[in-house]
Amino acid sequence: MGLENIVANEVREAEAQRGKFRVVEVRGCCVVIEPKEAFTLAELYKLRCFDTASFVLGLVRNPESVVALEGLAKLVASPLTEKLMSVLTDGALRYRLSMLAEGNHDVAVEKVTTLAYQLNPKLLNDAREAPWSIDVLFNEISASVELRPKISPNPRLYYRTDVINAASHPPLAACLARLAGRMPHEIVWDPFCGSALELAEVALMGGVDQVIGTDIDPEALAIGQKNFAAAKIAGTKAAFYACDFRDVAKIPELDRGKVSLVISNPPLGRRIRVPNMHGLFADLFRLSSEVLRPGGRLVFVNPLRLESTDPTLRLETRFAVDLGGYECRVEVYRKR
Ligand SMILES: C[S@@+](CC[C@H](N)C(=O)[O-])C[C@H]1O[C@@H](n2cnc3c(N)ncnc32)[C@H](O)[C@@H]1O
Repeated sequence: MGLENIVANEVREAEAQRGKFRVVEVRGCCVVIEPKEAFTLAELYKLRCFDTASFVLGLVRNPESVVALEGLAKLVASPLTEKLMSVLTDGALRYRLSMLAEGNHDVAVEKVTTLAYQLNPKLLNDAREAPWSIDVLFNEISASVELRPKISPNPRLYYRTDVINAASHPPLAACLARLAGRMPHEIVWDPFCGSALELAEVALMGGVDQVIGTDIDPEALAIGQKNFAAAKIAGTKAAFYACDFRDVAKIPELDRGKVSLVISNPPLGRRIRVPNMHGLFADLFRLSSEVLRPGGRLVFVNPLRLESTDPTLRLETRFAVDLGGYECRVEVYRKR
């Protein structure tokens, strides 16, 4: 939550370049889009910033009532569900029904899927390997019924050969990359690169001459290096160093004033313990100012209410993001 505008802007920019979707509305943590013409799921998954994509089948009022279960079954079994499933996927039309609310809903799921089968026997409830999920999302007065393609492996993450415990959520990495925008001949440093999702997402946007990844954990760094190589981005050089991010002086690619973008999802102090969080972020500001060229940007997730006191860094953008119940801020600073 908090990244919706970046998701919407990606759709708008794609639309300007003959993309097939247009933004209808941004609300809550949801961006509503509609197709302008026939499309494939592969075209939808060219967009990199969204987390999950679903087709809204309809709404049911008073979802806990018996009548509502019939209403849910009608939506599950509807001609719209059948059409979307048959047009967008090959093979038998299989789905798994999930009630996304607290508590055990096994009985309701059983009732709805049995009723739905009576209404439309072409649609099969298959809890194990269905390529579609039908999600029922509740609020106080109604439930939204949504058909979600379960695409695995995720085509957008073709480069992810391995993961680390503290890996970035991939849509967050893609959103940070888009937020950074573009400068000519980008030289990009991720001081806490881990499995290198941010570096890969930035380089996939094109125009990047060089990426530099540092991470104190050699195993995480090795995975980052492997992932970046698997992204196969032509024309982008890559250098990875297993070291503390403060060791910039030892890294030739981080010559003062050369870097155009420092981008990172740093340790947030939850999954990785950091003895002195304030010190770490103060050093991040100081070193970013040292390595960045004029006009260069620092784009990162800030878990602290700590601002740069360095007069050469100007805060340009700040907004809150909810990282699974942990509120942080995404910030963009620009080197004067
Ligand atoms: C949130 S993770 C980064 C995730 C990464 N963006 C990814 O896609 O996997 C933070 C990383 O910072 C690294 N780290 C922590 N302290 C560090 C330091 N002082 N210098 C360099 N890296 C550090 C950790 O090893 C961890 O891999």
